[in-house]
Amino acid sequence: MTRLITAIGLLDSGQVRSVLGAAVLAPSTRNTQPWRFRCTSAGLELHADPDRALPVADAGGRELLLSCGAALFNVRTAIHALGAHPATTLLPRRDDPALLAVVRPFAARNPDRRLVRLAGAIPRRHTNRTPFEAAVIPDAVVAELRHAAEAEQAWLPLLDADQLDRLRDLTHRSHHAQTADPAFLAEWQRWTARSPGSRDGVPGNTGRTMPMEDEDWILAGSPDPLVVVVGSFDDKKADRIRAGQAMQRVLLTATAAGFDASFVSRPVEVPAVRAELRTLLGGGLWPQIVLRLGRGTPSWTPRRSLDDVLLEPDRLRA
Ligand SMILES: Cc1cc2nc3c(=O)[nH]c(=O)nc-3n(C[C@H](O)[C@H](O)[C@H](O)COP(=O)(O)O)c2cc1C
Repeated sequence: MTRLITAIGLLDSGQVRSVLGAAVLAPSTRNTQPWRFRCTSAGLELHADPDRALPVADAGGRELLLSCGAALFNVRTAIHALGAHPATTLLPRRDDPALLAVVRPFAARNPDRRLVRLAGAIPRRHTNRTPFEAAVIPDAVVAELRHAAEAEQAWLPLLDADQLDRLRDLTHRSHHAQTADPAFLAEWQRWTARSPGSRDGVPGNTGRTMPMEDEDWILAGSPDPLVVVVGSFDDKKADRIRAGQAMQRVLLTATAAGFDASFVSRPVEVPAVRAELRTLLGGGLWPQIVLRLGRGTPSWTPRRSLDDVLLEPDRLRA
């Protein structure tokens, strides 16, 4: 059954469809795509999909919120590019914790050129899972990446060579803790060894069956790789949604500048190791995700159709 996509505020139904098409191109942990959307005449609702959580690797649902935050940034950016202002409210209903945000497109305005550029990068951004070239990222691009995080109320510390050594250590420790847990391995297999034709999960043909060796080459490189951490100033639900928006803004900024990114989630997934990473960053920030930026050969990963992620207007409010 094809679900109804209605006009919302200034946007007609075709424009709403294109916004939703941009939303689902967001990155998500293990490509779980843990989001659902609901169109009402008042706004576009973003809901977390608890059936797509990772109860072992992401017990607190932090990465789920980062992923949904990334989808929210795509929604806002696509609406901007269509010439409307996306008035966004996070966590609008206490009695509905899965409702993460409502976005109301209103007030026509001239699109901001920087955001139009980021909107153009949405379909071109893909996670890199191959070794990086020895490319240096110019200082001007590094400054843009930092501004991208700050514009979304997050911070983007760059790791120096000593911190990078410590991060490699922390990543190995997380790896050993996680792979000693059969439940972690079962969950990993479930989402990474998907059959051909599957519309979610990380397909087997991206070359990953076991977690560790990939992080080794992601964090390796000569000259020293550019490794950054998206950090938030607090670690509550709204901070994590904001951090996801910041992460996506950083990723799209890199894509628009011609660079690629790989994720290093291991050291942030194990709470004790995450606490050490927080100390390594000076203790004032909550590390949310580690990214390696550079030039690689990213591959395409599938998505579910819009019908699979749309909620009927009556399904939630019943
Ligand atoms: C919070 C988060 C953590 C992620 N962690 C990893 C990771 O550790 N390793 C990896 O290869 N990809 C990681 N990814 C990338 C996802 O696998 C990727 O976004 C998903 O497969 C969709 O592919 P795409 O980014 O190319 O669109 C992560 C993404 C998010 C949002």
